[in-house]
Amino acid sequence: MSGSKVNGTVQINEEGHVSTDLPMLEGSLGPKVIDIRKLYAQTGHFTYDPGFTSTASCDSAITYIDGDEGILMHRGYKIEELASESDFMEVCFLLLKGELPNAEEKAKFSHDITYHTMLHEQLIQLFRGFRRDAHPMAIMVGVVGALSAFYHDSTDINDPHQRMIASYRLIAKMPTIAAMAYKYSVGQPFIYPNNELSYAENFMHMTFSVPAEDYKLSPTVARAMDRIFILHADHEQNASTSTVRLAGSSGANPFACIAAGIACLWGPAHGGANEAVLTMLEEIGSVDNVQEYINKAKDKNDPFRLMGFGHRVYKNYDPRAKVMQQTCYEVLDELGIKDEPMLKLAMELERIALEDEYFVEKKLFPNVDFYSGIILKALGFPTSMFTVLFALARTVGWVAQWNEMMEDPGQKIGRPRQLYTGPAERPFVPLVKR
Ligand code: CMC
Repeated sequence: MSGSKVNGTVQINEEGHVSTDLPMLEGSLGPKVIDIRKLYAQTGHFTYDPGFTSTASCDSAITYIDGDEGILMHRGYKIEELASESDFMEVCFLLLKGELPNAEEKAKFSHDITYHTMLHEQLIQLFRGFRRDAHPMAIMVGVVGALSAFYHDSTDINDPHQRMIASYRLIAKMPTIAAMAYKYSVGQPFIYPNNELSYAENFMHMTFSVPAEDYKLSPTVARAMDRIFILHADHEQNASTSTVRLAGSSGANPFACIAAGIACLWGPAHGGANEAVLTMLEEIGSVDNVQEYINKAKDKNDPFRLMGFGHRVYKNYDPRAKVMQQTCYEVLDELGIKDEPMLKLAMELERIALEDEYFVEKKLFPNVDFYSGIILKALGFPTSMFTVLFALARTVGWVAQWNEMMEDPGQKIGRPRQLYTGPAERPFVPLVKR
């Protein structure tokens, strides 16, 4: 527990019933938190917070978000600066180890990651067991979970060295697995990693090269891919990261924990949103239909939501979305498809939503997934791969958060309580009498 105790106390009074003093904790940034760990022991009451909108589940020194101001920082460095001045390998090192690497550390880290990119050859049999039309996220969940059956020498969670090897393996092998999931779906041979290439280049190579021809990658596109990875690298205690921590809190091995994170990321309210954005844009079809869909999104009786808009934490412009918007323009310019109808449609949707009273009042801004989907489509990825790329990039965040939890001497199994609403005790009715 690293948050420091502050003097202020909070009284919780339930009229005529409970009154107790609770300590407050203060981190290095952000609001103070009320420490409710002794609440039940002191009062016999739980707190109730489904969706954890008012609950800090842990203390963490990795990522800080101020959603009202639109600020995201990793280890104190602003995401905009990391995206423009740094690269994904440096950001991985920073998230995992707490500091930016010097030149020697960076070279060694990149080398170590590069030399863990190959998969155990037998895993190819596992891929072949999937149907060709399997969603690549289904393959990711299965194959990443299965890594624990192949790398026994890095599943002892109590050994810091093994934990770090597992972390490197996960970061290194994720692009290989993602590219193989794609290759399998299109019926092309798997392409092995190439140690001459950077992390982002290697991923594009394994995805788009074929034995007959190498994929030609421009520096702008390589940089855009790297930036997409940086922008998705970590986002404090989001749903998938909390899933990884919860799975890890029971002592499960890191491969199983990351597979759990991938499963959680798949949903359209989380990582699945970038895929949902493209599906939505295809459904809207034309700039002429934008207003109709804005109206649908505002209609309380219509379940339709504008995908790529809104965020649980950001009630201001998502800082990642700004960088992604700029990257989107750069890529489309480079590829000579700036006038692509889908982009025009997306821009019109953004323009109208940003002016519309409903979206303004509810502070629903475009999020990172709004633009990433457009870039990935322009780069030739099928929509089903979009969330896979998110998983690939988020892996470093998941393993950094998992390591942080494992190193915390006060770490406990995560076990929330509930507000029971089922029947009170009643006598069992034998089958013949039901
Ligand atoms: N379109 C229309 N209305 C919306 C939208 C939207 N995209 N998002 C929220 N609202 C409305 C919602 O109906 C509610 O209205 P009311 O107060 O009248 O009931 C209000 O805004 C608050 O929404 P909420 O669902 O209570 O907010 P939340 O914090 O639980 O949800 C969210 C956050 C991201 C799940 C939600 O905004 C959403 O479903 N957005 C679309 C999906 C999406 O783009 N997700 C990607 C998130 S960013 C990447 C990531 O973290 O994985």
